[in-house]
Amino acid sequence: MESGFYTNDLEHIVETDRAHIWHHLSSHKKYETVDPMVIVEGKGMHVWDAKGTKYLDAVSGGVWTVNVGYGRTEIADAVRDQLVKLNYFAGTVGSIPGSLFAEKLLAKMPGLSRVYYSNSGSEANEKVYKMVRQIAHKKYGGKKHKILFRERDYHGTTITTLSTSGQPERAAQYGPLTPGFVEVPHCLEYRNQYPDAENYGIAAADAIEAVILREGPETIGALVLEPVTAGGGVITPPDGYWQRVREICAKYDILLHIDEVVCGLGRTGKWFGYQHYGITPDFVTMAKGVASGYAAISVTVTTEKVFEMFKENPDDPMDYFRDVSTFGGCTAGPAAALANMKIIEDEGLLDNVNAMGARLITGLESLKDKHECIGDVRGKGLFCGAELVSDRETKEPMHESKVAAVVAEVFAQKVIIGMTNRSLTGFNNTLCLSPALIATKENIDEIVTAIDIALTRVFG
Ligand SMILES: Cc1ncc(COP(=O)(O)O)c(C=O)c1O
Repeated sequence: MESGFYTNDLEHIVETDRAHIWHHLSSHKKYETVDPMVIVEGKGMHVWDAKGTKYLDAVSGGVWTVNVGYGRTEIADAVRDQLVKLNYFAGTVGSIPGSLFAEKLLAKMPGLSRVYYSNSGSEANEKVYKMVRQIAHKKYGGKKHKILFRERDYHGTTITTLSTSGQPERAAQYGPLTPGFVEVPHCLEYRNQYPDAENYGIAAADAIEAVILREGPETIGALVLEPVTAGGGVITPPDGYWQRVREICAKYDILLHIDEVVCGLGRTGKWFGYQHYGITPDFVTMAKGVASGYAAISVTVTTEKVFEMFKENPDDPMDYFRDVSTFGGCTAGPAAALANMKIIEDEGLLDNVNAMGARLITGLESLKDKHECIGDVRGKGLFCGAELVSDRETKEPMHESKVAAVVAEVFAQKVIIGMTNRSLTGFNNTLCLSPALIATKENIDEIVTAIDIALTRVFG
């Protein structure tokens, strides 16, 4: 078929996709017999595919991103206006939306005062790793360069962020990885590694201290953690954990980096996940929900204390942070982020997240009462998971093919949910839910009902 730049012939689009597009995180063999899914349109909580089928999206664009929902003309208008005024200049200089968004963001992050823009979560995390390495060279003769990461956490797709992957299936076959990164144990109480401990949260944090002492505190510059682990199983931290982690970092002069790429901007019912635990980090990174996918933007935020370390010796040409991100200078990102934040504030979406998150957890708990295969229900705000097991007593993880069958049965009811995916061998067994922050009671109930029906269909 002859086509111009644009076409409304969606069959042509699907065939072209099948012929030429390499989908992310996808095994392509199946597309020889089934059509690849092409999403054409979105409005609010819903998307439509190339066949015109409407779906309720319970995962905010597949990977917990579209926090304020689809079709927000106010964000599109803000981006359009900004692009016409000034689309780009390198981040070596400032911009109006860059300044304004930094001001609004930092007002919500007491104790933090500097913003560095780039364009993906991986990149935002790598900026921290580079800052930590440079501080080690500037202050500690290169020695305090190691960065600790946690089993089950994920921090990105580049070779170095994969070197901090606590999800072995993500990193497998991409080695050799970058040296200088060391794993600490997970904090998932359902899979308690310290059954004799009086307080699991303290024991899990103390396990980090044990790694620090083993490696030598003088070699460790930072610890990176997700506030609530996302793709590693939706792991809400146990009581007392974060406060103890903060103490340990302070004790050994280790910078605390919190990866808010998923939790950032409202997902858990506060602006940031760490704000549930009364702590102040040294670095915070964020990406997905910052502009809800209306533009690519990521942000690395830090303290004045860290920032000052990069301007101590102005006569030394190697003293400052010698990093650049070309698309960190795109003005569409902060313009979209400003409009996105205004929506969250104007529509009181944090309150909605708390109310609807409670409804979702209650719904999942009621499914747990009904279905033996649900071993554990976890979550904070509109960020929830249900871990499936084949035996409640032994907690034997459900085989991932069965978990995938549940996701498929939910999809058959025109509801899109997710599951932990190519994460940990034997533990890709958690259903993942992250509906947009605008979800209504009816949306939540529809999601829970669809899972209920799917569990019955798969497990009887
Ligand atoms: C916690 C966390 N950090 C970092 C990333 C990487 O973000 P990006 O895919 O934008 O590079 C992700 C992506 O899923 C994530 O879940």
